Amino acid sequence: MRDPIQSILDAFRRELAAASTAADLEPIRIKYLARKGQIAALYDGLRDVPATEKPAVGKEINELRDILQRELDAKREGIESSRVQSTSNLDLSLPGRPRPIGTKHPITQTIDEIKTIFARMGFTVADGPEIETDYYNFEALNFPPEHPARDMQDTFFVANKVVLRTHTSPVQIRVMESQPPPVRVIIPGRVYRNEAVSTRSHVLFHQIEGLYVDRGVTFSELKGTLVSFVRQFYGSDVKYKFRPTFFPFTEPSADMYISCFICSGKGCRVCKFGGWLEILGSGMVHPNLYKYVGYDPEAVSGYAFGMGIERIAMLRYGIDDIRLFFENDIRFLKMF
Ligand code: PHE
Repeated sequence: MRDPIQSILDAFRRELAAASTAADLEPIRIKYLARKGQIAALYDGLRDVPATEKPAVGKEINELRDILQRELDAKREGIESSRVQSTSNLDLSLPGRPRPIGTKHPITQTIDEIKTIFARMGFTVADGPEIETDYYNFEALNFPPEHPARDMQDTFFVANKVVLRTHTSPVQIRVMESQPPPVRVIIPGRVYRNEAVSTRSHVLFHQIEGLYVDRGVTFSELKGTLVSFVRQFYGSDVKYKFRPTFFPFTEPSADMYISCFICSGKGCRVCKFGGWLEILGSGMVHPNLYKYVGYDPEAVSGYAFGMGIERIAMLRYGIDDIRLFFENDIRFLKMF
């Protein structure tokens, strides 16, 4: 009985060594370990073994069976793990592939910074719809019916009396409608204008609107707030000036300019050799607006301002083409 055991083990090991796939293993298992396999035959042969030797021989067969089972399992595992490695080209010793981390868009970064500065001065953030009615975009803002901005030339019409908002000022009306004074909000958002796309203008851009209405708000508070803003945003040595201008929804109105931070006012390409950069429009809220929102024009006064974000970001980062903000070229976005 000893020899058959040894020769079965030798034959089994030879066949196992020659197997290279999981499919090769199954016939080997059947040949040796299945119910009609060679191990089973050995157990059958026990019948003819003298009673005194039975326990010892039985033990040897048990051991052979366990060895075969163990070696078959080990071989199967080896085949399995090398298959996983070769199909996925897994080399666990290689360093990981870096996943590029996204960054905030420079427009979002600029808006965030401006929000933070105004939040410190007590402004909360409001927003409103980008698709607006003629009423909010123009009428309640005191635009006369024949104002050129109401023309198809400048404004995208969605339907009769429905437009893509051309500025964030309609949200002034919506905010005042929704709450009694005092209000102190900034309103960032997208605005749309029907313009030829070029390095300097786009059909879509962003503005931040500001609105403060309370009892006894004065023009000097408007100036003080904006001066504080430009000092925090551009640096405490920035020079500024206000120049009278016109908006239907503010009276009086003023554009704010800062000294060119590229050339400190000496004159360069960025400031078109004027030394000054226009950064926002502003003014005291026109009393007609209060009538539209149910405020008492005799009891309250307020100021508003609005600035274009792309322009501010372009000046700040020295970007000479507004279209770069909308192309999402990763090489551009990674610079900020
Ligand atoms: N809405 C104006 C514009 O788009 C900016 C502005 C806002 C001016 C608020 C005065 C007050 O140019």
